[in-house]
Amino acid sequence: MILAEINVHITPQEIELQRQTINSIKLSLSGEKRYAMVETFGCQQNVNDSQRIEGMLLQMGFTLTDEKDLADVIIFNTCAIRENAHAKVYGKLGALKHLKAKKPSLVIGICGCMVQQEQIAKRIKSKYRHVDLIFGTHALWKFPSLLNDALEHSQKVFDISGEGSIAEGLPVNYDGGARAFVSIMYGCNNFCSYCIVPYVRGRERSRSEADILSEIEYLSKNGVREVMLLGQNVNSYGKDRGETDAFAKLLLKVCEISGIERIRFMSSHPKDISPLLLHTMAAEEKICNQLHLPLQSGSNKVLSDMNRVYTREKYLEIIALAKKLMPDIALTTDIIVGFPTETEADFEDTLSLLREVKFDSIFSFIYSPREGTRAAQMPNVSTPEEIDKRFQKLLDVQNNISYERNLRHEGNIETVLVSGRSKTDPDMLTGRNYANKIVNFKGDDSLIGTFTDVKITKAQTWILYGEKL
Ligand code: 5AD
Ligand code: SF4
Repeated sequence: MILAEINVHITPQEIELQRQTINSIKLSLSGEKRYAMVETFGCQQNVNDSQRIEGMLLQMGFTLTDEKDLADVIIFNTCAIRENAHAKVYGKLGALKHLKAKKPSLVIGICGCMVQQEQIAKRIKSKYRHVDLIFGTHALWKFPSLLNDALEHSQKVFDISGEGSIAEGLPVNYDGGARAFVSIMYGCNNFCSYCIVPYVRGRERSRSEADILSEIEYLSKNGVREVMLLGQNVNSYGKDRGETDAFAKLLLKVCEISGIERIRFMSSHPKDISPLLLHTMAAEEKICNQLHLPLQSGSNKVLSDMNRVYTREKYLEIIALAKKLMPDIALTTDIIVGFPTETEADFEDTLSLLREVKFDSIFSFIYSPREGTRAAQMPNVSTPEEIDKRFQKLLDVQNNISYERNLRHEGNIETVLVSGRSKTDPDMLTGRNYANKIVNFKGDDSLIGTFTDVKITKAQTWILYGEKL
């Protein structure tokens, strides 16, 4: 397993070399219509990384497609957080074998968190011989030269070199909507005992404030109205440079950017979230009163075994302050069920905390052992059947709470940033309110990309319905 220990800014010369490679690929493709497909697994950070890969592909002259039969280049950007994320990718990789046999010029690449694990990357290299390109999270910025090697020299390319790095100045394919993701930092220092992220994304490193602000200014000029600032633990933004309270300060600067009307961020670690941040959220109109604060478990014993470094009581204190400062705040969290040391009583502690906090929604996961993490060595105290039952119970309890929380929106007039037509009901427009909840309502296409006031007429567990005022 490779750990990134160094915080390296890629030099402008190295970036320039990648830009030149983009241009030379473009020249070599000139005139020919070539297609590329990027498929993303996992979190928003990966979505943002894929936008970088797509940005580079577009500048090389590729046309993006969702159809693998049409593609000349296929890239899977993978996730490692749970075993089922791996299983999906293996299935999809296997299915590409016949495509490669039919079209030997097809370049198949796999990148991201899954292949940053050396043992996995080597397994793919030896067992999936139709894969041309394997590169890890730290090599993403080198994509142009890696692809060039695969295209020009028909070489098998393998780069999972492991230095933590920050690369600025390469193209990004923002998908053109009014909402955009902006990574403000990479990596994680926390080593929660179940989590693979610090091993595959390296140590925390923060982008410079100037780079972040100029990216958001650019986005604003191009029609973006809402930004989601991304990091594994945004509350430690700037700490790698010895700064304190840098995240709250950054938020204030983002608030000053004209055109940007809504600001969100994720994720926050309960051990690092500061009262100052909550006060800043409450004071600043543009920062949405919405907070994703991963809890993982309501049991102090399990939290300690998870190395989360906070207690149930501390967590509840933060929530109490957030609710006091922002009575309408929408709260979401992550819960893991079936951590190796979790007993029935520990699980009951999680349920009681959910009932007390009343999260608007939760993201719940069954624990999945990750090779190389501390928890993977811990013996299980519960059977898979017991864990499945707990998981079902958790969903039942939370679904009722989510519905109850959604009911409070009924009758409100809320501002919705309209993103497009609803996929499930094309008669309806869809968008999100301040709480990041989906709101569907009838209206015409001219509203897409704008803020629109909607009266909420009906709440369901997962969605709100409304009427345009
Ligand atoms: N098993 C199950 N869930 C996990 N998460 C992280 N690692 C694991 C694991 N090994 C969950 C945590 C985290 C979210 C992004 O994924 O809840 O907050
Ligand atoms: Fe994983 Fe914990 Fe870091 Fe989140 S804070 S990415 S759960 S190690």
